[in-house]
Amino acid sequence: MLYKNLSVNNEGHLTIAGVDSVYLAKKYGTPLYVMDEELVRHRCRIQQSAIEKYCAPGSMILFASKALSMKEMYRIAKQENIGVDVVSSGELYTALSVDFPAEKIFFHGSSKTDFDISYGIDNGIGYFIVDNVEELEAISEYAGKKDVTQNILLRLAPGIDPHTFEAVKTGKVDSKFGVAIETGQAMEITEKALNTPNVQLMGFHCHIGSQIFDIEPFCDGADIMLGFMKEVKDKFGFETEILNIGGGLGVKYVEGEPEIDYHQCIVDACKYVNDKCDEKGLRQPILLMEPGRSIVADAGVTLYTVNSTKTIPGYKSYIAVDGGMGDNPRFALYGAKHSALIANKASEPADFHCTLAGRCCESDDVICEDIDIQKAERGDIAAVLTTGAYNYSMASNYNRVCRPPIVMLKGGEDRVVVRRETFDDLTACDL
Ligand code: LLP
Repeated sequence: MLYKNLSVNNEGHLTIAGVDSVYLAKKYGTPLYVMDEELVRHRCRIQQSAIEKYCAPGSMILFASKALSMKEMYRIAKQENIGVDVVSSGELYTALSVDFPAEKIFFHGSSKTDFDISYGIDNGIGYFIVDNVEELEAISEYAGKKDVTQNILLRLAPGIDPHTFEAVKTGKVDSKFGVAIETGQAMEITEKALNTPNVQLMGFHCHIGSQIFDIEPFCDGADIMLGFMKEVKDKFGFETEILNIGGGLGVKYVEGEPEIDYHQCIVDACKYVNDKCDEKGLRQPILLMEPGRSIVADAGVTLYTVNSTKTIPGYKSYIAVDGGMGDNPRFALYGAKHSALIANKASEPADFHCTLAGRCCESDDVICEDIDIQKAERGDIAAVLTTGAYNYSMASNYNRVCRPPIVMLKGGEDRVVVRRETFDDLTACDL
């Protein structure tokens, strides 16, 4: 089995955190997102404890909530004493609706609206991560109107290629995110920020990309950021208080991919940053990291009902399920890979070579392409693994399909944390 929290019981059913997946599918219907709460909390703890122990006081993990934005996730983050990164007023609203401490909220985004800026400032969020000069000016203007000083970090592009897939590379010079160091524009915006009223520059941010399995690109990125911080100190006498090195720690989706020791990875990154600061004569900054996927991805499994199996002689076979790109658009968007099995036949051999296809009217509505899985028939339950990140949060109602509920598992108990959408929800905005 791909992960330790998955097993097979005496009935040959897949169990998730000790709970029978077939029982869950019957009780709640399918498609169904299932999350292992203890694993989510464990991931928060091992990452937070590493950064807390090895970095300057105040260093913290921020959950990149774009990976899974729902009330219960912000409640968990609050209880685990970590911060969150939000990227829209919608995510901010959701966090605030469960009283997530505003001062631990970092507002991201490369295209913030006037509303985002006023909503963030009115609600007293801790920091804006400023992407560009126009945004800096807009934040300063609104903060001025409100007679407050808003803390900010500047998002910089360190010019790193992290060897991940194209759609999730973000730290390159020609990226739409942030301000490039290489072109001199990062120094210009820093000087401007230091001289802009009603904003307080607290430090710098970079995010080089996602699905990174190696600590090296993070260290390379940090190196460039620290070099920049040194230049800024020499030039303007400004000592950086906060360095945020973003998210992107990789997750194993299929056999053969590495499994990362997240605690060790963060310890190594912290030590690297500390040593480099000493070398450069910089004060150790408060270090922030923004993991999304590595907190929630492998805690999630999606359960589907099989509707049909089709073999096209001489070509290929398909298993069609009752969900698809509406609840998991990752294959359609990135050609992403997931592991899957037939949950009620989990002890049978996985000797049926096929593509697991969704129900939408799109050829690319595929969940897993060319996999080996147990033979299936209508009514069986398919389980797709590692769906806790960027599945619910990227889900759509394409073809007017209702989005699935999320059920959390803890201590052998199951509870709904997001209910299933209804036809009334689907037409709620139609006039
Ligand atoms: N910080 C920033 C500024 C980000 O843009 C992201 C992700 C993260 C942190 C969290 O990265 P993570 O630790 O989750 O890799 N939808 C894609 C992933 C897009 C990632 C966008 N930014 C997927 O399904 O793979």
